[in-house]
Amino acid sequence: MDVVNVLHMNAENRKCSYAENSTLQKTVILKARKVLEETIKDYGSHGFPQCFKLADLGCSSGPNSLFLIANIVDGVHAFCQKKNLKAPDEYQVFLNDLPNNDFNAVFKMTPQFYSNLENEIGPEKSEKCFICGVPGSFYKRLFPSDSLHFVHSSYSVHWLSQVPRELLDINKGNIYIPKVNPAGVYEAYFNQFTRDFTAFLHMRSEEMVSKGRMVLTLIGRSTADPACNNDCCHLYGLLAKSLHDMVAEGLIHEEDFNSFNLPIYTSCTDELKAIIESENSFTIDRLETFEVNCDTRDENEKIKSDESSGRFIANTIRAVMEPMLASHFGNTFMDKLFERYAMHVTEHLSREEPKYFNIVISLTKKCK
Ligand SMILES: C[S@@+](CC[C@H](N)C(=O)[O-])C[C@H]1O[C@@H](n2cnc3c(N)ncnc32)[C@H](O)[C@@H]1O
Repeated sequence: MDVVNVLHMNAENRKCSYAENSTLQKTVILKARKVLEETIKDYGSHGFPQCFKLADLGCSSGPNSLFLIANIVDGVHAFCQKKNLKAPDEYQVFLNDLPNNDFNAVFKMTPQFYSNLENEIGPEKSEKCFICGVPGSFYKRLFPSDSLHFVHSSYSVHWLSQVPRELLDINKGNIYIPKVNPAGVYEAYFNQFTRDFTAFLHMRSEEMVSKGRMVLTLIGRSTADPACNNDCCHLYGLLAKSLHDMVAEGLIHEEDFNSFNLPIYTSCTDELKAIIESENSFTIDRLETFEVNCDTRDENEKIKSDESSGRFIANTIRAVMEPMLASHFGNTFMDKLFERYAMHVTEHLSREEPKYFNIVISLTKKCK
């Protein structure tokens, strides 16, 4: 079952809680920024091309992708000025997501993007930054051969191309890898991720020039053991618990609950390294990890109320999960489900504070 397309099926519902989710992703982009800047400097120390071609994969419909692109263009400009190097004359920017993505929402933000960029790097340079949308799955070819100098992706590559089929029979009562690990569930997820991430690397290796650079940020897990994972998987477990409540209240059928699994995989760093090494098109220049509070408001100010945090976290997860849940179960009980979910998260927060564990990797395409 190809479930990834339903990520965009319910755009209106996404918008209502997008703010929380966008805040999380922006926090992640800011925390990964140092690796991005170092990568630009490394790449630029050999000279930039006349037209710098870059892509953001899984750009979504919020403001983060253009914020990120502005960061890259500013970063290139500042580095060239500091080192007295020739900056690119032109930038060609490709924003990719699945075909159902609301690309128009992103395009409507371009006037503001150009106006900000003009303030940073001047009108002549900013008007030579050409933006276009590229609909399609990043597990397939998206660009011509040897055409990209720089690829970026944040919070997208942990989405699988499909739910592993084997899970239907073996993961009843769970929606992700449970704490007590039923035989085969972890393997099914890991094998799917290995196939998908290998395909992702292979496609990019065809599309990128030799020595082109790629920076990827993914949600991961902090331990090699998938069963004793204390990261955001708790949040998926609590979502399963809330769905279970809906079964108990007769709002959803047990068989529908049993046949739902998340198309996400949270890998650990060793797994990522092993896949990159075995695919063999890229070298790893940097690999760093960092945690982000699940209530991202805590990054700047301490939020006192567990209940307020519980609601905030529930809204963050709702923004991402609701389209998928609604497509599987129907959307009549979503408010009730996420009220219950906020309650379970609040209860959990009184015992421990879950974190999103993130992995950021900087890669160089090997010479052919
Ligand atoms: C959580 S959002 C991240 C958005 C943005 N990068 C940010 O940091 O704010 C993940 C995005 O990845 C996209 N995505 C998932 N699987 C994809 C695939 N196979 N090909 C292209 N985009 C995909 C989703 O549609 C979604 O817009």
